[in-house]
Amino acid sequence: MPASTSSSNLPSSSSSECFTGPAPAMKLPQDVGICAVEFYFPSLYVDQSELEMYDGVSSGKYTIGLGQSCMSFCSDREDINSMCLTVFQRLMEANGISYSQVGRLEVGTETLLDKSKSVKTVLMSLFEESGNSSVEGVDTTNACYGGTAALINAVNWIESSSWDGRYAVVVAGDIAVYASGNARSTGGAAAIAMLIGPNAPLILDQRVRATHMQHVYDFYKPDMSSEYPTVDGKLSIQCYQHALDKCYQEYTRKVQQQHLIENFTVASANAFVFHSPYCKLVQKSLARLVLNDFLRDPNPDFNGLYNGLEEFRKIELESTYFNKQVESTFVKCSEKAFLQKTKPSLFLANRIGNMYTPSVYSCLLSYIMHQSLADLPGQRIVLFSYGSGLASSMFSLHITQDNSSGSSLEKLYHSISGIRTRLESRVKFSPKEFEETLQLREKTHHIAPYVPIGSTDHLYPGTWYLTEVDDKHRRKYAQKPASPLCDGHANMEQHMAQGSQKTATA
Ligand SMILES: CC(C)(COP(=O)(O)OP(=O)(O)OC[C@H]1O[C@@H](n2cnc3c(N)ncnc32)[C@H](O)[C@@H]1OP(=O)(O)O)[C@@H](O)C(=O)NCCC(=O)NCCS
Repeated sequence: MPASTSSSNLPSSSSSECFTGPAPAMKLPQDVGICAVEFYFPSLYVDQSELEMYDGVSSGKYTIGLGQSCMSFCSDREDINSMCLTVFQRLMEANGISYSQVGRLEVGTETLLDKSKSVKTVLMSLFEESGNSSVEGVDTTNACYGGTAALINAVNWIESSSWDGRYAVVVAGDIAVYASGNARSTGGAAAIAMLIGPNAPLILDQRVRATHMQHVYDFYKPDMSSEYPTVDGKLSIQCYQHALDKCYQEYTRKVQQQHLIENFTVASANAFVFHSPYCKLVQKSLARLVLNDFLRDPNPDFNGLYNGLEEFRKIELESTYFNKQVESTFVKCSEKAFLQKTKPSLFLANRIGNMYTPSVYSCLLSYIMHQSLADLPGQRIVLFSYGSGLASSMFSLHITQDNSSGSSLEKLYHSISGIRTRLESRVKFSPKEFEETLQLREKTHHIAPYVPIGSTDHLYPGTWYLTEVDDKHRRKYAQKPASPLCDGHANMEQHMAQGSQKTATA
């Protein structure tokens, strides 16, 4: 797969050049984190207010009650392999990275097509021309947490003695679909690819990561013949909030132990971004951090931030998951912080829906998109990643000080600016068409042999799509040819200009 030329300042080499190992006196990597990103979502969506009417629920339930405006979904032309092929190839080409420069590739997903063969191995088809097969990493699965586990692995690899000097790439993608009923409106679909390396513009704070893991059946996928999860919605909300409390308590303790910040509260970071099953839960989650701050504060200021909250001083966190009075009081008390530090992160989640593994990273991108480049240097962003079952972590990253012209931060910032235009060019399906599409996926999921019948007209140029599943369940893909670009992505434009129909098999 030829790497396109690029204006990126990341090191590049020709695609036929094989990596020959690290320089003998390789320096220890500094500032390891996210060097570049690419974000993909399907071109079809359904409007949530139309869905409210179609589903016969009260007007406002999905749009106000859950905080969702639209939901992305795919036809039978797309699956997890095709979405990851698309986003990974775009990352490589947009940043002028050759496939021989990647030494680790991990995929986080819960959209399983195979109990054995990984999505990662499908992505290896893109490496063939480079001759590079020395690429560590496979798939990681635990509901919406797999992308975070992959990110932690990638950063740890680069900081370890086994690092060979090459980049790592993390791909996180999912198709979130639910059986008809009250969970269906909390679906969505997207994929993200992140280039991981030293001297990154988004630097992970490795010393203060907090984790909470627990055995629970809040959401799981025991039926391999179905794409749909078995979900206990209310239990999943309780588990999410409990995990958030535990992670925040550990995160603040570690920050203090490391003498980074004396008394860490919501005021101490520029942004808090969360895994977003639906946006309303995220607003309640920031409120919950303020509740934690309030209960942890030995001397709360009842004349300031905590004005009028004396009656809540003795409440137990565990008893408040569904306490509406506590919830609404702290949502109100944290409103200013929410507007500044979290609401900007919900731009994509509100318009795409739950994306499972990429969700929290879409929130990171949304937050960055809503800042001016001048305001980004030095900002600290706290992320909360949650995957049912359950696995959760809270961690932070800080943004490099260098936003000069040509810097990696400037390039990352501009590379995501086209997402808005791409969102606006999506094709709206009616709720009936949406339901028929899901019914088709439901009926044909895991059928072999199968030839998809969905139209490829609506796919973005350059998108990989499924052409056939043969009688041995082997999947074949093709790439939609180039045509005028819809998101202003310079290097994608070059790729599209190449234009030939490419194929991959899995
Ligand atoms: C999240 C989920 C449980 C909600 O389903 P539900 O029980 O039918 O929804 P509810 O009746 O609780 O309504 C949702 C919210 O909309 C509000 N609402 C309902 N109708 C409304 C209307 N017409 N206008 C405004 N708000 C409305 C409800 O009051 C409720 O608000 P609250 O959460 O602040 O109490 C369901 O979509 C689900 O299971 N999703 C998948 C699992 C998930 O996302 N879990 C999250 C953690 S991982």
